[in-house]
Amino acid sequence: MHNKKILLLSISLVLLLTISAGAEDQRVLQCRVLARDFMTELKGELKVAIRSGGTVKAIPVCRETASELAARYSLPFGVQIGRTSERWRNPDNRPDRWEQEGLAIFEKRRLQGETLAGMEYWQEVEEKGERSFRYLRAIPTGSLCLRCHGENISRKLKKVLQKNYPEDQAVGFRLGELRGAFTIILSQ
Ligand code: HEC
Repeated sequence: MHNKKILLLSISLVLLLTISAGAEDQRVLQCRVLARDFMTELKGELKVAIRSGGTVKAIPVCRETASELAARYSLPFGVQIGRTSERWRNPDNRPDRWEQEGLAIFEKRRLQGETLAGMEYWQEVEEKGERSFRYLRAIPTGSLCLRCHGENISRKLKKVLQKNYPEDQAVGFRLGELRGAFTIILSQ
């Protein structure tokens, strides 16, 4: 009788753990889909804009598309999505403490030889008395990105960037370096 009780108890404990692991997986899956779709759309828009009007003309498109996408993806109740980086171009994208931690971990792992593609970091956090699920996904620097974030930016483009982003730190990147991360908050 006693043993049975223990058995039942351990079964329910295992079930409980499985359910909570399952719930976490759901949130991770949701974040993965959001980050992937956001990246695909943004890259697509960027390519079209560059092809039709050149890199300089693509700058406002890039900014507006990013904020338009962020707003659209954030529409479902309780979701916030954006981009962040230690070397930001737009000061609005400056990382907070939690994001800084995650970005530092990504950079460390990269320097140890891991590939950035698909690298992620998540945690359930409590900030100012509110619980939420936070997720970061690394954004590697691809060749398309070098045009506006690389070492050899055209003089004309540099001028426009400096005018729009006087504090710009998002230049001088090399292929494969950590450009930043998608950052997602699911409120609970
Ligand atoms: C046409 C020029 C251009 C290209 C090409 C470009 N970006 Fe950007 N990027 C910008 C501009 C402008 C901003 C600032 C957007 C804003 O004001 O929110 C930015 C911002 C970002 C940010 C947000 C953090 C920050 O620095 O403010 C990330 C992350 C980013 N870019 C990654 C990339 C990646 C990855 C690629 C390649 C797939 C890429 N960019 C290609 C112009 C460009």
